[in-house]
Amino acid sequence: MARLSQLIAAAAALTAGVAAAGDDAVLSSEVGRLNNQSLLWGPYKPNLYFGVRPRLPEGLWSTLMWSRMDGYEDVKDGFRLTCEQGEEMRGYGWDEYDARTGGVQTIHDEGNKLDLTTSFVKVPGGSHGGSWAVRIKGELRDGAPEDQKTTVYYYFAQDGEGDLQVEGAGTEFGFEGDVALKGNSKSLGDYSILVTKGKGKHPSVDHDLSTKRHGDTTVVGSLQYADNLLWQAKPILFQQLQKAAQYVQETYGDAAAPPPWQVYRVDHDPGQGNVHIIQKTFEGPFEFDVIFSSGSAGKALTSEELTHEIKRTSESFSQRFGKVFDLKAPFKADKYLALGKSMFSNLLGGVGYFYGEQLIDRSYAPEYDEDNENFWVDAAEARGRRAQKMEGPYELFTSIPSRPFFPRGFLWDEGFHLVPIADWDMDLTLEIIKSWYKTMDDDGWIPREQILGAEARSKVPEEFQVQYPHYANPPTLFLVIEGFMERLRKANGTQRAEKETLSQDETLYRAHLDNVELGEEYLRKLYPLLRRQYDWFRKTQKGDIKSYDREAFSTKEAYRWRGRTETHCLTSGLDDYPRPQPPHPGELHVDLMSWVGLMTKSLLNIADALGMAEEVAELERNLEAIRRNLQDLHWSEKEGCFCDATIDEFEEHKLVCHKGYVSLFPFLVGLLKPDDPKLGKTLELLGDESHLFSAHGIRSLSQQDEGYGAGENYWRSPVWMPMNYMAVTQLYNVATQKGPFQDKARDLYTRLRRNLVETVYKSWAETGFAWEQYNPETGAGQRTKHFTGWTSLVVKLMSMEDLAGGHGRDEL
Ligand SMILES: *[C@@H]1O[C@H](CO)[C@@H](O)[C@H](O)[C@H]1NC(C)=O
Ligand SMILES: *[C@@H]1O[C@H](CO)[C@@H](O)[C@H](O)[C@H]1NC(C)=O
Repeated sequence: MARLSQLIAAAAALTAGVAAAGDDAVLSSEVGRLNNQSLLWGPYKPNLYFGVRPRLPEGLWSTLMWSRMDGYEDVKDGFRLTCEQGEEMRGYGWDEYDARTGGVQTIHDEGNKLDLTTSFVKVPGGSHGGSWAVRIKGELRDGAPEDQKTTVYYYFAQDGEGDLQVEGAGTEFGFEGDVALKGNSKSLGDYSILVTKGKGKHPSVDHDLSTKRHGDTTVVGSLQYADNLLWQAKPILFQQLQKAAQYVQETYGDAAAPPPWQVYRVDHDPGQGNVHIIQKTFEGPFEFDVIFSSGSAGKALTSEELTHEIKRTSESFSQRFGKVFDLKAPFKADKYLALGKSMFSNLLGGVGYFYGEQLIDRSYAPEYDEDNENFWVDAAEARGRRAQKMEGPYELFTSIPSRPFFPRGFLWDEGFHLVPIADWDMDLTLEIIKSWYKTMDDDGWIPREQILGAEARSKVPEEFQVQYPHYANPPTLFLVIEGFMERLRKANGTQRAEKETLSQDETLYRAHLDNVELGEEYLRKLYPLLRRQYDWFRKTQKGDIKSYDREAFSTKEAYRWRGRTETHCLTSGLDDYPRPQPPHPGELHVDLMSWVGLMTKSLLNIADALGMAEEVAELERNLEAIRRNLQDLHWSEKEGCFCDATIDEFEEHKLVCHKGYVSLFPFLVGLLKPDDPKLGKTLELLGDESHLFSAHGIRSLSQQDEGYGAGENYWRSPVWMPMNYMAVTQLYNVATQKGPFQDKARDLYTRLRRNLVETVYKSWAETGFAWEQYNPETGAGQRTKHFTGWTSLVVKLMSMEDLAGGHGRDEL
C-alpha cells in the first residue's frame, strides 16, 4: 500500500509545478502505470450480475450464481448468472460505484424471494493491481418462508497460463470454516483467495444422505477445462449438479428422495484446477466474503478491513458525487440525488473489458460501392454470400448500453456514455477512448458494434454479428474529445489554488487535466488517429454533387450513409427514421454532413491548441464549406428546416423533408451561428408542440409527418435521451450568448431540461428501471429496460445551470 501512495505523492509533486524539463516523460509513464494499476480490477463482465475480471486478455475471473432451493425445479427456474430482463427481477444494479474504489450493488430477485447486496472494494498495493474483495449478503424478501433455502455458488476461472489450487481439503464432506486458495499467473503474480464461512443458518434433514451431504459445510469442486470453455460457467456447474442428482436418483429413487438442497450439491473434491466452484447452502438470511489478495501487496486483506473499506468507499462516493454532479434547481431534492447516483453508478458500473475475435466481411464486392441504382438490393445479395471471417483477437475497454440486452461496445452510444463519465474520471475516459481507437483499422474504420469473443457472440444471432468496413456510425467520441480539449484549455494557466483543494486521491482521476503537458501529449498521439477516421468518413461516405444538377458552394462537402436499405439506415443510428424513397445513389444525408461538421470543428480546435497551423487552415476551409453546403444542399426555405436530399425523375436535386431529429442536426452539433435566421427557424420547429416539443422531451419525428408512430415506431415518435441532451446543451449555448434568439432559447432550455428529468425520474420511481426511450404522450419508459447507457445523461441535465430566473430576476 505504501508504494502506491508514495508514487501518487511523487506524481502530485510533479503536478505542483516543480517538474524540470525531461520529467514530462517520467510523469507520463508513471501516470500510465498508476492508471493501469488503479483500473486493473473491476466488475468488467457487466453481462453478469456480478462478474469480476482484470483488464487483461487472460487472468483470474470470478462470478456469483445462486438460486432458491425449496422445490426441485428451483435449481432451473431460480438460477441466476447473466443479467436478464424478466419479470422475476424487480430492479438491480449499482447504487454507488466508482471504478477506482468500488461500490454497492443491490439485486431485488422477486422470483427467488431474495434481496442480494454485493459490496465490492478495491484496495491498492503492490505491483500487480492491488487486491479486491466483495461482501455478499442475502436477505429474504417479503412473502418468503422464514426457512427458505438458498444455494450460492462462487465460480473462479483461471484463464490462460497460471496455477490455482485449494489449500487443504477440509473434512471428507466439505469445509467447516473458511476456504482458502492460492494461485499465480504471469500477469497477476502470486495471489491468495479467501472465501469466508460467513454468517447464516444452514439446513439439516433427517435423511440417509445427511451422513455425506451436510448443509453446514462449504463444498468445493476443482475442475480442469479447456480455456475456450471457461466462460460457460452455467453448463460447467450444471454438469456437476446433474451428476449429483443422478447419484440420488439411482440410490434413492423418487420416493425416498432427499430435499432439493441436498440433491443439487457439487461433489466435494478440492484440489488443483482452472475452475473452482464453491457452494454454500443457507436457510434464511446470510452473508459471506470473497477476498482476493495480491501477493505483492505484502499483506492479505481481512474481513475487518473489508468492513472498514466498504464504509469508506461509500462515504467518499457520496462526497465526491455531490462535488462532481452538483445538482441545480429545480433538482436539489433527495429523490433526484438518488436517481442521479443510481443512473451514474450503473453507467460506470457497466464499463467492461472485452477480448476476442469478431466477424468482419472484408471481401471486395463491387456491390459494396453502392453506386448503382438498385444498390440496396445488390448489397443485400452480396451480404448473403457470407464472406465474413473471424478477425482478431481485439480488446475493448468500454461502457455498454444495457447489461441484460446490449452487453458489448457500441460506437455511437459510447460518446454519450463518456460525457458524464468524463466529469467524474477524465483519465478513465481517456483510457476508454484510446481503447476504441486501437480497434480502428489502417483505413480509419472502426467497427460500430463490437462483439468480441464467444461469450459476447452467444447473445447475438449470426446475421447481426458481421461488421462491414464500408459502414459508418456517428463519430460521437469527438463530443468527448472536444470536451476534454476545452477543459484542458481552461486548466492551462489556471493557478494552483483551485487544484490544491483536491485531495491526493483525486490525482489519478484527472492527471491529464492537472498536467497540461500530459494532456497535450495525449492529444498529440491521438490526433493522427482522429484525422485518419475523419479522412475515412470523407472518402467512404462521400455524397455525389457533380453527377447531378446541383449547385453548391463546395463540390466536395456532401455525404451519404452507406448500408441503408429501403426501410432502415442502421448506420446512422436512427434506424427507421424516414429517409428518401426509394434509396438512390444520389441521396444526401443532413445528419451525416452535420457529424462530419462536428469532427471538423473538434479537429480544428485540437490542431489549434497543438499549434498545427497548416491543419488549422485546411480545417477552417472545410468547416466553412460544410456550413455553406448545409445551406445550399439541405436548407428548405419553404419548410423552414434542414432536410435530406435526393434526385427527382429529371435527375435534379430534390429535398425530402421529414421534420424531426434529422432536421435539427446542424443545430444539435453546434454548426449554426447565434444570429443565423436558420437557427431561429430551427428553434421554432423544436419548440412547436404540434411538431416536436412534448411534455416528455423532443419527439424523434413530427406529429404531422405521415410516418409518425408508423411501422416499427422506433425512431418515429419516441423521445430519445442522446438527441435531447444535445438539444439541451445547444439551447444552453444559445441562451448564454448575445443574440436575437437568446430569450427563446432560455425558455426552451428551461422547459426541456425539466421535462426530460421529470420523465426519466417518474418512470424510474414507478418501475425501478431506466428505459431505452420514452413515450412522447405518456412519458412511459419503452423498449429495453435497464437501459443505463445514454439515458444516464439525465445526471448531466440535473447538474446543468438553472436559467429559469433569467437576469437577476427572482426564481419565484
Ligand atoms: C498499461 O497497460 C497497457 C495494456 O495492458 C500496456 O500496453 C501499457 O504499456 C501499460 N502502460 C504502462 C505505462 O505501464
Ligand atoms: C497552453 O498554454 C500555452 C502557453 O500559452 C500554449 O502554448 C499551449 O498551446 C496551451 N495548450 C493548450 C492545450 O491549450
